[in-house]
Formats: sequence, C-alpha cells, structure tokens
Amino acid sequence: MNNLDQIVEQARADFLAASDSAQLEQAKARFLGRSGSLTELLKGLGKLEAEQRREIGARINQAKGEIESLLEARREALLKAALEVQLAAEALDVTLPGRGYGVGGLHPVSRTLERIETLFRSIGFEVADGPEIETDYHNFTALNTPENHPARSMHDTFYIENEDKVLLRTHTSPVQIRSMEAHVARFGSMETMPELRVIIPGRVYRVDSDATHSPMFHQVEGLWIGADISFSDLKGVVTDFLRRFFETDDLQVRFRPSFFPFTEPSAEIDVAFMSGEMKGRWLEIAGCGMVHPNVLRHGGVDPERYTGFAFGMGPDRLTMLRYGVNDLRLFFEGDLRFLSQFR
Ligand code: DAH
Repeated sequence: MNNLDQIVEQARADFLAASDSAQLEQAKARFLGRSGSLTELLKGLGKLEAEQRREIGARINQAKGEIESLLEARREALLKAALEVQLAAEALDVTLPGRGYGVGGLHPVSRTLERIETLFRSIGFEVADGPEIETDYHNFTALNTPENHPARSMHDTFYIENEDKVLLRTHTSPVQIRSMEAHVARFGSMETMPELRVIIPGRVYRVDSDATHSPMFHQVEGLWIGADISFSDLKGVVTDFLRRFFETDDLQVRFRPSFFPFTEPSAEIDVAFMSGEMKGRWLEIAGCGMVHPNVLRHGGVDPERYTGFAFGMGPDRLTMLRYGVNDLRLFFEGDLRFLSQFR
C-alpha cells in the first residue's frame, strides 16, 4: 500500500514543517479532518468486499495510528520549544548583585530632640505635645499678648484662610497653657496639685527664611510650676542640661535680661564654649523667665500659691552647635549627602 506509506510520510513532513500549534492543527485537518486524505480512504472502504475491507481497513487504521502518534510527538515538541523560548525571555540572572536596601537613620534634629527628652526625663520632666494649628487665643492672648500688643509683630505667621482666629503656631509656648489646663483638670484641687514639670518639643512656623531661619523650625518648651520655684532653679536646670547635652563642663551660660510678654522677669540664654573652634563666642539658644501671673491665671493656676519658670529653646541651633553645621537650611532640604553623615 504505497499510497498509505506516502500519506504517512507526507504527514510526518507537514507536521515537522508546522512551526506553531495553529499550523499543526491545520496540517492535522489535511489528514485526519472530515475530508482529510486518510478519512477519504476510510470512506472508500464501504465499496470493497468484506475480506479486502478487513485487510485494508486494518492497514488504514495502522496508518492512522502512526499519524496520530506523529501528531502527538510534534505537539509535545512545539510545546517544549515554546516553553524554552519563554524561559529564555524571562530568564533571571541570579548571579547579579542585589539592589539592597538603603540603611536609614534618624534625622539629626530628631536625635537632638530625643537627647533633650532623655535628659529632661531623667530629672522628672514629662514630655507633652500640642497642635501645630493653634488658636489665636492659645498662641497669643492666653500668653499675655492681647490683640494690638506690639509683641505680636515679632511673630509674623501663617493664618489659616476662612478659619476664624486659627494659625500655624509661632512657638511651643501655647502648650504651656494647654499643659496647665490638663494638669489642673487631672488633679482637680489646686491644694493638692503636684508640681508640673513638662517639656514640649515640636514644630513651629514663622514668615522667615535665611541661613539661620527657616519658615518651619523646632522648639522645645520647658515649664516647671510648683509652690516655690525660683529663677535660681531655672539657672540650675538649664546650665546642668547644657553641660550634659554638650558633654562638657567647659562651657559658660549667660542669662541676659530680655522681654517676653509671658514671663517676668525675662531673659535670653546664651552659651559659650571655653575651648575649640567656637571658643569665646556667645550664642543665643533660648528665651526664658518666670511665668507671668496672667499666664498662670489663664492656665487655671493660682499665682498667689504657685510660681514657675519657663523656657523655649531652639533645638535646631543646638544641633548646629553640636555637629558643627553652619546652615540651618541643610536640615530641611532632605539631601542624603548631608543627612547620611548622621547615620
Ligand atoms: N516663645 C518664645 C519665642 O518663641 C521663646 C520663649 C521665651 C519661651 C521665654 C518661653 C519663655 O517659655 O519663658 O520667641
């Protein structure tokens, strides 16, 4: 049956020539489809006599089996080839070095704030915070700075549009009032009120921008209220803090008379190192004073019974001094070449 062998050979060649499964299915149809060449032969069997039919039928069936296994083999080969192409296209080079993760670190100002918190906690201070969007009342009025008071012009700030008397706080001092209010509420009777000792680190805002001023900067407010707190307590606490903060006794602290509406008397705190590059240069690092009786009253504290001191320092300045940074703006530009030096 030359003809059958030819058909099988033709199928083998056609299947091999098919380069994808669509072509292969078309080739299959030419042999095994409804009018495929093998199917036609099978149809012709009916015209044969019984004996011939059996013999030829068997041979056709054998050819059909061969073609089917050729087809199956080609299907598998095509699938395998397709998989190999895909694997090659999606290959991963596992020998490439990894991209790795950058190692993060605390911002230098955050490190200073943590350090300040640790040092003040060690002498019994709590750490508190307050809102950055503050009422005009807490930011100014309650701090003995009524509307039209000339001291308000020192604190040019950002007012929130369409909101009545709401602004970005210009200092952390409003949290003095909030802390007193909370303390009085917590302990009810002023007779039994324990001392209030709190520091308040946070962001503050002013319309100001140059090498030593940024529109957003940090402050740490300190407040100690008790039955017998005096200016000498203030001097002792601040001087001791600065020595511990800078890890040297080789510095001098100066309290220079000044004015703040919320303290009386008021002073500016200057520090000078006795050795090193900055030797002998006085640098202003904080404002301070004895809390004004009106401020105590606004916080719900009886000024006849209690006194207190307060200070507001600039941790950005302290960070500049501690690390020898000469431009404040570097802290807020997010330049990793600068920041990664503090990791
Ligand atoms: N709030 C003042 C400022 O931002 C700093 C200050 C001065 C805070 C004296 C105080 C203080 O608590 O007693 O300029």
